[in-house]
Amino acid sequence: MINFSGRTAFVTGGANGIGIGLVRALLAEGCKVAMADIRQDAIDAALKSLDNQMVMGVQVDVSSREGMAAAADTVEERFGPVSLLFNNAGINLFQPIEESSYSDWDWVMGVNLHGPINGVMTFVPRMIAAGQGGYIVNTASMAGWLASGSPGIYNTTKFAVRGMSESLRASLAPHGIGVSILCPGLVKSHIFASDEVRPPELMVGAKPVDTAHVERLAGVHEFGMEPDVIAARVLDAMRENRAYIFSHPEHREEVAELFAEYLADYRDYPEDPGYDQRVGFEAFRRKSYKDARDAAQNAT
Ligand code: NAI
Repeated sequence: MINFSGRTAFVTGGANGIGIGLVRALLAEGCKVAMADIRQDAIDAALKSLDNQMVMGVQVDVSSREGMAAAADTVEERFGPVSLLFNNAGINLFQPIEESSYSDWDWVMGVNLHGPINGVMTFVPRMIAAGQGGYIVNTASMAGWLASGSPGIYNTTKFAVRGMSESLRASLAPHGIGVSILCPGLVKSHIFASDEVRPPELMVGAKPVDTAHVERLAGVHEFGMEPDVIAARVLDAMRENRAYIFSHPEHREEVAELFAEYLADYRDYPEDPGYDQRVGFEAFRRKSYKDARDAAQNAT
């Protein structure tokens, strides 16, 4: 079981929402915590509210490879090797793909997918070299399962974070590094104001911000789950080394419904040439995948 006390954690998007909930929970467990965020004002406000020597702020844009490497150096110089990584920073953009521009893609993919990729590429080699094992939690979303027309790019990124995390969970197990995928539903957070952190160079072709929509979203997020509740569920799941962290029980039936719909799309096709060999090959692969999942369960 992962032990938290004395470890160094790096939490992206740590100055608001889920991130600050994680920061508070990790501090309470005796971790040293780096709160990594693009908003310096939010970092300053959060540091003031926490008033704790074991937390430091580091301003970084997770979509920047160089920025993440520099942030890692800054944090490790002061707090020692990072062995708990929370790739949590994310932004939202509610619009259909056919109404989106390349700069919309670049912004959302940059933060929501390349952010976690950069976190992994920056810290995993360091974690392996430090040899202390560790843990990575990647924040996907229920939008990594439930797709619909309007959050098209967001859906794309969150499905991809799931795929990356499942693969990493298998490959990092031999290094004693656990990986979980956080899939929240509605959260009481600041995400409705994502437009505030959109870089000017990625504004080309952006639709004007629909302030009425942002206000409606702010209202919806008001009854979202409290970040501290989510953070406690995340740490529980890490102790159990659970692959998926479904913080919001209200989605359970919908996931079951969705899997029933997947299965309903299978057809009893007649056997084609090569079917028997494929079945043999897939049985072998299936067992190796299952073995990897079982081994990952015992990684930490
Ligand atoms: P939030 O907006 O309250 O916090 C996200 C933090 O990320 C902010 O402090 C923001 O400044 C920071 N950030 C944004 N772009 C960044 C960048 N390029 N580099 C570094 N930091 C950056 O939002 P929330 O809701 O706490 O989001 C955290 C994660 O949870 C995201 O990945 C989001 O997609 C996911 N999520 C949120 C849900 C919700 O209902 N709010 C539901 C499901 C998942």
